[in-house]
Amino acid sequence: MSKTTLQSIPISQDEIIDLKIDSMAYDNSAIGRYKDFVIMVDRGAPGDYVKASITTLRPNYARAKIVEIITSDSEYREEPKCKLFKVCGGCQWQHLPYEKQLEQKDLLLKKSFNKLNLNDNVLKTIIGVENPWNYRNKVQYPVRTIKDTGRLKVGYFEWHSNELVNIKHCPIQNTLFDRIVDTVRELAPKYRIIAYDGKNKTGWLRHLCLRIGTFTNEALLTLVGVSENLSYSQEFANEVTRNHPELVGVCLNVNTNTTNVIYGPKTKVIKGRGYIFEQIQDLKFKISATSFFQVNTPQAIKLLDIVKEYSKPSLNETVLDAYCGGGLIALYLAKMAKRVIGIEEIKQSIDDANFSAKENNIQNAMFINGKVENKIDDLFKNYKPEIVVLDPPRAGCMKRVLENILEQLAVKKIVYVSCNPNTLVRDLEILTNEKQYEVKSIQPIDMFPHSYHVECVVGLERIAVS
Ligand SMILES: C[S@@+](CC[C@H](N)C(=O)[O-])C[C@H]1O[C@@H](n2cnc3c(N)ncnc32)[C@H](O)[C@@H]1O
Repeated sequence: MSKTTLQSIPISQDEIIDLKIDSMAYDNSAIGRYKDFVIMVDRGAPGDYVKASITTLRPNYARAKIVEIITSDSEYREEPKCKLFKVCGGCQWQHLPYEKQLEQKDLLLKKSFNKLNLNDNVLKTIIGVENPWNYRNKVQYPVRTIKDTGRLKVGYFEWHSNELVNIKHCPIQNTLFDRIVDTVRELAPKYRIIAYDGKNKTGWLRHLCLRIGTFTNEALLTLVGVSENLSYSQEFANEVTRNHPELVGVCLNVNTNTTNVIYGPKTKVIKGRGYIFEQIQDLKFKISATSFFQVNTPQAIKLLDIVKEYSKPSLNETVLDAYCGGGLIALYLAKMAKRVIGIEEIKQSIDDANFSAKENNIQNAMFINGKVENKIDDLFKNYKPEIVVLDPPRAGCMKRVLENILEQLAVKKIVYVSCNPNTLVRDLEILTNEKQYEVKSIQPIDMFPHSYHVECVVGLERIAVS
């Protein structure tokens, strides 16, 4: 770091400044400028005028926490519905009215896509949700055991901390989850289910995971522990399912990793089945305990319709659904296409996709287990898809995947579904760099109300060579 840069910073560590906040940042903070220097203020809101204390200094920006809100703009601030919002790290934007959350997501995306010099009207206005509450169909809670009582603490971590918030009610999740979590809390001492303590290598339970089919009301409980051995697992499963008939199964997943990856490779079904069904219009999807599925089902349906509109497959075209998870996009497009092919690295998701294809009597779908970067070359050689759908994880696509697509003259359309605008912009720059593809349309969809996260569907078309 050069001295000149440091000298140009107009503030110092722990200094308290008066600051006007203009907009939200792509994280848990809001942005203000102090003598043109960017200050990111935890839990700020546009229109706030605050006293803020500097907590972190970086060459190009600082972070600060609010000491006092001097004035605020009531259009941009409301009382968060969740009583734990101030401490819990689960949501970031609950102090903004929902309409303003959407406005700020649009603004953030406008800034992100600026780099691409898009034509006017390419970037559409975000599609919001009808009901921004109780939408999450999945929860993965870390746990702790309270020493004195043996009861479990279940919830998300506090902001910037390893302390767990014991969540009794979370307003963004399916309402059933609170009730099941409460039962597990109650039953844990009886069946000697003790949270794993990584430091002392004692206990067993690492995460308590629940998922539900929003349109089927089938729920699944998965306990993630450090071994296969949980003494009273059967008795526990019997009691918890007796209390909650929505549970179609109880699973035990074994994770011996020291990383923060939640699931290990092995899942045992203790009771019932190891999967739920979800209904998406006329299609039924099998979703196993550890498979990926979009967390907001009603919004996922809107997303699928946009993917369909941008890809518009015809009955003589092949669609590649790269990063296909349990085959949601591939199977949704199957009846419009000659053939759909999915690639996915998680074997369980591939099994789910094949199961769902059979269940829905879809015969023109094929699913390949492996990493996209390793499988795509052969796939292009053997099947020559005209349409490619990319729906990678937050890290985006590997450069060689994009380069491989660019080499395929047969690919007429690319639909890129992304939950991370930063990696999306990076990847779109690669796809449009040599002017082989043009970004025709970008449709943001709000899959994650009350968080800063935002999903985008991008339609690209090959530029015809004259
Ligand atoms: C954002 S999800 C999309 C899933 C699916 N398209 C859907 O909408 O349900 C990304 C998926 O990519 C998978 N994945 C991550 N990296 C991968 C890779 N390098 N190759 C293949 N699949 C990968 C993940 O397991 C996950 O299922």
